[in-house]
Amino acid sequence: MKISFIGTGHVGLVSGVMMSYIGHEVTCIDIDEFKINQLRQGTTTIFESGLNQYMDLCYRNNQLKFIHGYDRSIQDAECIFITVGTPTKKNGDQDLSEVFACCTKVAPYISNKCAIVIKSTVLPGTCLKISQFIKNKGLINSVISNPEFLREGQAIQDFLNPDRIVIGAQNAEDFRLMRQIYEPIISQGITCIETNLNTSELIKYVSNTFLANKIALMNEMANLCEIIDADITKLSYAVGLDKRIGHEFLNVGPGFGGSCFPKDLLALQQLSRHLDSRCLILDSVIKSNKYRSQYIFNKIMDAIGLDISKKNIAILGLTYKAGTDDLRNSPTIALIHKLRAQNANIVAYDPQGIRNIENYLEDLYCVNNLYQAIEYSDAIIIMTEWLEFKNIDLIKAKKIVKQPVIIDLRNVIDNTYATYCGFKYYSIGQKDE
Ligand code: UDX
Repeated sequence: MKISFIGTGHVGLVSGVMMSYIGHEVTCIDIDEFKINQLRQGTTTIFESGLNQYMDLCYRNNQLKFIHGYDRSIQDAECIFITVGTPTKKNGDQDLSEVFACCTKVAPYISNKCAIVIKSTVLPGTCLKISQFIKNKGLINSVISNPEFLREGQAIQDFLNPDRIVIGAQNAEDFRLMRQIYEPIISQGITCIETNLNTSELIKYVSNTFLANKIALMNEMANLCEIIDADITKLSYAVGLDKRIGHEFLNVGPGFGGSCFPKDLLALQQLSRHLDSRCLILDSVIKSNKYRSQYIFNKIMDAIGLDISKKNIAILGLTYKAGTDDLRNSPTIALIHKLRAQNANIVAYDPQGIRNIENYLEDLYCVNNLYQAIEYSDAIIIMTEWLEFKNIDLIKAKKIVKQPVIIDLRNVIDNTYATYCGFKYYSIGQKDE
């Protein structure tokens, strides 16, 4: 089938490449010429493990094209996926300007039979609005909702082997079309949910809220563990053994970040306010994660000593989680602002995130090696759960630091071993050794 993707961000690029891999003829369109030129030269514009190889393969097989801007090539598309951003406006509302701009731009080119599939995360009611919007332009094209559930760093596996595929549509033909597109995946036994547009849109928000809720609850319980001398690692393992709960998303940390959870929760909160439908749990999760940032700052101050001015702090991990180079809503950025306000000397290292840091923090001193970062440090703060940090050579580390202090905000290092190596070790939700 001939499919176009509009927007080559994380979701658009991964989905476009993988749709091509499962047999479709895909055109990825973006208004960013620089990005398109890079993609045409075979360079992926995002860090996603394995994506390069899939992109190369599909490009060489002529199953994948990259086009700058909108042109007549869209005429042949049987289906257009919109995968542009839906950021938050200053007033908290969801900014749908890019989505509507796409609909306006494709309108002069698309054939009557081409379906418009909204993969961007949009609030319930948006697809119906888009449907009306294109009707007002004299078009009769179907609008379909098909939310994405791709985790950065695992996006390829999530595409090929999703927990479910969700389709929101208004008629049987549109469901059939979507089933045809996803046939290679559905045929492996993946459940495909067919529902109306609003339900489909809401499924995405409820999934993210539920996951964020699990994290926030465990982070709060970790705080309690620290007070009563209980162990969060044992606790979350035991709680996760309950099949109704499961093990995933019970890992404690510096708070959830990324391009989805914080933005999506705020958008849902704003919608519920507009509709006068109170979502108290949602309100609490947002509040809890906001407070997390202050809590970890206080924890660091307590560990290092209240006057941290001129102290050398080594920050390990800039990205909001391991396996990505993405810094959007990373708890590390917020922490660095707070530490800088106290005049701390900061050196940072991240295996992937450094190349993007200038867009978020000016003049942050970054180094390309973990051991260079911790040399002469008064404290090491682990912010991201990269394997490299878990595998740190503590004996070597002890020899080069100024003060042997580790504040491990992902609980990746073994408590007893760190102490044995001579470090004062602080973790989350465990008794400090
Ligand atoms: C998320 C959703 O999982 C995905 O379905 C959606 O489509 C996009 O948003 P992603 O942003 O890639 O994906 O990150 P995810 O792996 O879900 O983690 C989100 C945040 O939660 C990260 O900051 C991560 O560190 C944090 N987290 C996750 C925890 O603190 N503890 C956990 O146990 C899991």
